[in-house]
Amino acid sequence: MARERLFSPLQLGNVKLNHRIAMAPLTRFRADEDGIPIDIVRDYYTQRASTPGTLIITEATLISPRASGMANVPEIWNSRQIAAWKKITDAIAAGFDGVEIHGANGYLLDQFLQDVCNRRTDNYGGSIENRARFGLEVTRAIITAVSDSKKVTIRLSPWTDFDGKRMGDPVPQFCYMVSELKKLGLAYLHLVESRYAGDVATASYHVLTRRNDPFIKLWGPQTPIILAGGFTAETAEKATEEIYADSNLCCKLLLICTLPGSKVSDNWSFGWRHAFCQIATTCMTSVVPPNQHHTTLERCTSLAKHRSLPALRWSRTP
Ligand SMILES: Cc1cc2nc3c(=O)[nH]c(=O)nc-3n(C[C@H](O)[C@H](O)[C@H](O)COP(=O)(O)O)c2cc1C
Repeated sequence: MARERLFSPLQLGNVKLNHRIAMAPLTRFRADEDGIPIDIVRDYYTQRASTPGTLIITEATLISPRASGMANVPEIWNSRQIAAWKKITDAIAAGFDGVEIHGANGYLLDQFLQDVCNRRTDNYGGSIENRARFGLEVTRAIITAVSDSKKVTIRLSPWTDFDGKRMGDPVPQFCYMVSELKKLGLAYLHLVESRYAGDVATASYHVLTRRNDPFIKLWGPQTPIILAGGFTAETAEKATEEIYADSNLCCKLLLICTLPGSKVSDNWSFGWRHAFCQIATTCMTSVVPPNQHHTTLERCTSLAKHRSLPALRWSRTP
């Protein structure tokens, strides 16, 4: 099979990628107890920084002291943490190219979206529009903070059953979310495939039980879509060259492959000159101008504080 599309360039936000394979966000637990990425994190990312024109999305980085339930995950809300990230980006590129909001895999925004856990009775629960409200507010707040929607994106996982997720029918909820996000002019839309749940492969890992097609169709060709989860060299190729090839809608499809060792091509290797920092829960990163940094942080963290986990009720059916 020809690999013309998989290895063809792609405009993604303000950066031009040389091909359509990117490195997915991967939490590595390599931060100290203050959430500061330790020195080997710089090695980890620079090792993957050999080929210009490749996109790496960082591991989830936490945006407030209350944002984490896990130790040793890197954070990005105080000046020491930001300085440590700056060392990493300076070693590789000239700062982050954008912010990816972690709205997938059971993180806070996903908990708002999914009716299996959002039992709120205020304006943030009870209907499709209400459940989408917080994620959209956060996305808009970050766009305002960085003054450029092309530096912002969000990751969603409509099909995940991780941590008791998976609505009876996620399509209407996520179609609404995607259609509202589409109006915001984001750099790209990032969707997790049904093969994958959180950080574990599903039992049917090699089978795509449910497809993201309704969301891909809705998003249209205006900016790329990243699909992630369970791709091999063969299925990535099939997706770009066959499944989505005959449709204009998906001509800008971008695929994720997480394993640097994956042999996609004999003369291909991972590299990083472009990077989106994935922020977990709500907030921002180094693309925010220094003088706006503080207010953005306050705004986003106060949103998170007022509308966060304690107000959500789990309702897992036994
Ligand atoms: C060790 C590990 C850490 C992960 N950390 C994150 C993360 O920080 N943020 C995120 O959105 N997804 C995370 N994921 C999910 C991956 O980004 C990706 O969706 C998943 O690995 C499926 O892709 P793959 O089948 O190509 O590996 C993680 C997965 C693994 C295995």
